[in-house]
Amino acid sequence: MNTASTFKAFRVEEHDDNYTSSIQDMPFSEVSEGELLIKVAYSSLNYKDALSASGNKGVTRNYPHTPGIDAVGTVVTSKSSKFKVSDEVIVTSYDLGMNTDGGFAAFVKVPADWAVALPKNLSMREAMTIGTAGLTAGMSVLRLTETVKPEDGSIVVSGATGGVGSLTIGILRKLGYKITAITGKETEVTFLKNLGADEVILRDEFENIVHKPLLKPLYAGGIDTVGGVILENIIKSTLPMGVITSCGNVSSPKLDLTVFPFILRGVSLIGIDSQNYPMIYREKAWEKLANEWKTDQLTNAATEIHLDELSEKMELMLNGKLKGRTIIKMDF
Ligand SMILES: NC(=O)c1ccc[n+]([C@@H]2O[C@H](COP(=O)([O-])OP(=O)(O)OC[C@H]3O[C@@H](n4cnc5c(N)ncnc54)[C@H](OP(=O)(O)O)[C@@H]3O)[C@@H](O)[C@H]2O)c1
Repeated sequence: MNTASTFKAFRVEEHDDNYTSSIQDMPFSEVSEGELLIKVAYSSLNYKDALSASGNKGVTRNYPHTPGIDAVGTVVTSKSSKFKVSDEVIVTSYDLGMNTDGGFAAFVKVPADWAVALPKNLSMREAMTIGTAGLTAGMSVLRLTETVKPEDGSIVVSGATGGVGSLTIGILRKLGYKITAITGKETEVTFLKNLGADEVILRDEFENIVHKPLLKPLYAGGIDTVGGVILENIIKSTLPMGVITSCGNVSSPKLDLTVFPFILRGVSLIGIDSQNYPMIYREKAWEKLANEWKTDQLTNAATEIHLDELSEKMELMLNGKLKGRTIIKMDF
């Protein structure tokens, strides 16, 4: 039973156009019908959190606010028949950390419908190493592998050292695909090869603006996390009947393309939206992540930090300098 009257949270405040963060003591609020109060064991850092903490109103409209789109922990109060006290649950996306106070705190209060039971074969630490980034990687791989098979050719992965990119490489490797990684980090070629990339291309080489509707077809498919010219060039370089998924816009939200890759090569572009992923598919994806897709790399390769180290990591993330996954241990 929880007897404290306050809990620690990483709060972001707005002062005119400036956003500052600090660890504060927050009061508990009443748990309503259908909701859970969860004692958070771990959260994880995703790109959206860095946007929320830096005042991106497309992610978070009102401040003060607690970011953190991921949390795993133990139910301490349940006003739902779905979960009982002591159940271990994962909450990712929906509105957590966007306009609902999120996982960068010792406790979160959420609708029970947002929670997934922690799969048997996954520890809480492993679940957050995966987090929304891993779920997004898993969703992207599911959509691509419906059509593209390992024998069809290489899959190109952009933003390769990032959270989504690095977990995607781990899953594709486990499934036997040949992988071409695109990275901006010259120093991380060996890291990417150890993850499972067969070939690494530096971002500068791939980001050339080419005013041709089609390029030499090289890849059976692509998992893009950055958008912009890189996604344009992936689409133009995809083999006939290839599939590309798009989940992110770290580079740019814009695409300047013709329809020719689609109508002359039968290429498909599939959008990935983990936030609104229906619960039935979400549960299935977590089962796969906990079992057939699970690798040491997938679950052990996170950097563990505490709440007071978050600001520094988010700064690195916004500058494209963070590598792999970062998880936050809540040891209050
Ligand atoms: N749609 C969804 O459901 C969903 C879910 C999760 C995440 N996302 C989005 O997916 C993207 C990646 O998320 P993440 O958590 O993997 O972020 P992340 O860990 O920060 O990784 C992003 C990676 O992109 C590369 N990058 C950085 N700046 C770049 C630039 N200017 N141009 C090209 N590449 C750049 C870097 O990798 P390299 O140095 O290796 O190139 C960086 O590590 C974000 O836009 C995020 O919002 C979407």
